Amino acid sequence: MNNIRAAITAVGHYVPEKVLTNHDLEKLVETNDEWIRTRTGISERRIMENGATSDMAVPAVQMVLKNRGITADEIDVIIFATVTPDMFFPATACVLQEKIGANKAWGFDISAACSGFVYALSVGSQLVETGAYKKVIVVGADKMSAILDYTDRNTCILFGDGAGAVLLEPSSDESLGVIDHKLYSDGTGGDFLYMKGGGSLNPPSHQTVEDKLHYIYQDGKSVFKVAVVGMADVSEEILKRNNLTGADVDWLVPHQANLRIIDATANRMGLDKSKVMINISKYGNTTAATIPLCLSEWWHAGKVKKGQNLILASFGAGYTWGAVYVKWAY
Ligand code: COA
Repeated sequence: MNNIRAAITAVGHYVPEKVLTNHDLEKLVETNDEWIRTRTGISERRIMENGATSDMAVPAVQMVLKNRGITADEIDVIIFATVTPDMFFPATACVLQEKIGANKAWGFDISAACSGFVYALSVGSQLVETGAYKKVIVVGADKMSAILDYTDRNTCILFGDGAGAVLLEPSSDESLGVIDHKLYSDGTGGDFLYMKGGGSLNPPSHQTVEDKLHYIYQDGKSVFKVAVVGMADVSEEILKRNNLTGADVDWLVPHQANLRIIDATANRMGLDKSKVMINISKYGNTTAATIPLCLSEWWHAGKVKKGQNLILASFGAGYTWGAVYVKWAY
């Protein structure tokens, strides 16, 4: 048995400049700013006008490398969580590898929607814990605007574009780092949140375009009901497994899908809102990017300190959900 623990040793993020406000959306669909803010907590989101998901990941990873003072050729592995890959294949991890010049790295994509980052973080930390790899980049990035129907008010108001990334390395202090993770999937959720076109089930055709199968579909009410329970349950479970109570938690880092889901999770954990990272108002739901985007913004604002207890929690399409307990290492 080895006792290597993986730790997050640098964070970075990127959001495109273009802002799409609720008032802008009022001009596209039958909606209003007040409805969106009260039902979701979102005021605006960012839109990537030119370029692909990998183009947001590049500056996010470059921020990570700069933070840590290392170069891209020191990276061993790139794990890229996204549901909006640049294309089906090659993997966006490979596209990114070439763009940043990580010429010694191998990599792959993870498709777990809004839980993509916690899934990827769990896999990445285990690659470090085996002793096989010393520098693993974990990216969560999505260009949701590429798969949104801006005539569908049920979905287009919810999502935005963004990228976040972290570096995982063997922890120099075994008590710090990624301490625990608990992940779930439930394929019955596939009926409520999906994009059905383009794959082997419905290869692209004039018909799939006409039927709008290349856009996200969500039955919001059904997803809401399970998300609110799933995210709170797994957050409570990870506390119990580690003999923690809400009082021990310094930061809850929740997936940002809906402020009401975030509030319910914080309440179940007995957490004051001041201990919850929330930026949904500025960015909406950036899918795999929400959690690393929060981590990077809060760390760069000087609010995340060595030794603090962080609970990362998510719920998304699949269904997929999970939580990660991190004791901050730097
Ligand atoms: N603007 C104005 N009205 C809207 C609207 C919009 N953008 N979207 C829906 N409405 C209307 C509906 O048509 C409905 O009208 P009706 O009562 O006349 O039928 C009413 O508002 C309520 O709609 P409903 O879908 O029940 O709202 P909701 O309270 O469930 O909120 C979501 C909708 C999408 C915000 C919410 O269900 C949600 O956040 N779901 C989960 C998202 C999530 O966690 N996803 C997982 C990760 S991706």
